[in-house]
Amino acid sequence: METVPNEKGLQQKPFQNSIMIVSVLLLVTLLPYPTLPSSVNVGIVNGTEAMPHSRPYMVSIQRNNKHICGGFLVSEQFVMTAAHCYKAGEILTVVVGAHDLKNGSRMAVKFYHIHPGYESKSLLNDIMLLQLNVKVKESKKVNWISIPKKDKDIKANAKCSVAGWGRKTTAGTASAKLMEVDVTIIDKKACQKYWRETFSTSRMVCAGGRGGFCQGDSGGPLVCNKVAVGVVSFTQKNNCDSPTLPNVYTRISKFLPWINCVFGGVKQELD
Ligand SMILES: *[C@@H]1O[C@H](CO)[C@@H](O)[C@H](O)[C@H]1NC(C)=O
Ligand SMILES: *[C@@H]1O[C@H](CO)[C@@H](O)[C@H](O)[C@H]1NC(C)=O
Repeated sequence: METVPNEKGLQQKPFQNSIMIVSVLLLVTLLPYPTLPSSVNVGIVNGTEAMPHSRPYMVSIQRNNKHICGGFLVSEQFVMTAAHCYKAGEILTVVVGAHDLKNGSRMAVKFYHIHPGYESKSLLNDIMLLQLNVKVKESKKVNWISIPKKDKDIKANAKCSVAGWGRKTTAGTASAKLMEVDVTIIDKKACQKYWRETFSTSRMVCAGGRGGFCQGDSGGPLVCNKVAVGVVSFTQKNNCDSPTLPNVYTRISKFLPWINCVFGGVKQELD
């Protein structure tokens, strides 16, 4: 019923109608990007700005000088991140010592060590080590974080945190400053009930709580008791804000043999 007068109007005044469409389009392009009130719009999702340089291991992984992923220093020469942050043939750089992405030092990558079992569809084994061209110098702003020493379960309900420069909402923009949020480890069986066959209880770990990660946070660390235990891997498509499925991380301790093999290769190369 309501569409009838509209259709008539359209036929009678085609000119005016097209003007209206153009002006609406103009308005949309001229208006600033809509943002939520700042109390909601703080976050990785629902997070807060990190204290500058409180996480000196955090790095920004960039393509054409633009942030695409997070990562973290695990030694003076290696950055750990997600394998899905790399597409064959491209060149990535690493920015260390940044809080605001405008600051920090850019470093070149010498080798891309992608886990040989990485599967881009299922995101199984979503882990990569970037070998930097030169070693970083340890400072207040630049340092590395420990990873687990042996393969051991991460207890459900453990309090951990995740940080990144990614989007603060599904439709939002990336953050210039490093954000962080506390998360809680979810029992692996419960997580498998949510994600079903997508979830590997030995190679993945999931976490939730009042916040989580979003686009651009991939590759960042899940930190429990000052140890990096996970790598940001995936979440529900197009729904970072209030996902019904928990965030999934690559479980680092499962990959220790591979990590030690990559580290060992460098030692031999230097001898
Ligand atoms: C970023 O760099 C500018 C200029 O070097 C400096 O004034 C500013 O304090 C730095 N900001 C942070 C957060 O380190
Ligand atoms: C963020 O907070 C809102 C309001 O408390 C909640 O509905 C939403 O699920 C939270 N998002 C995440 C990712 O936890």
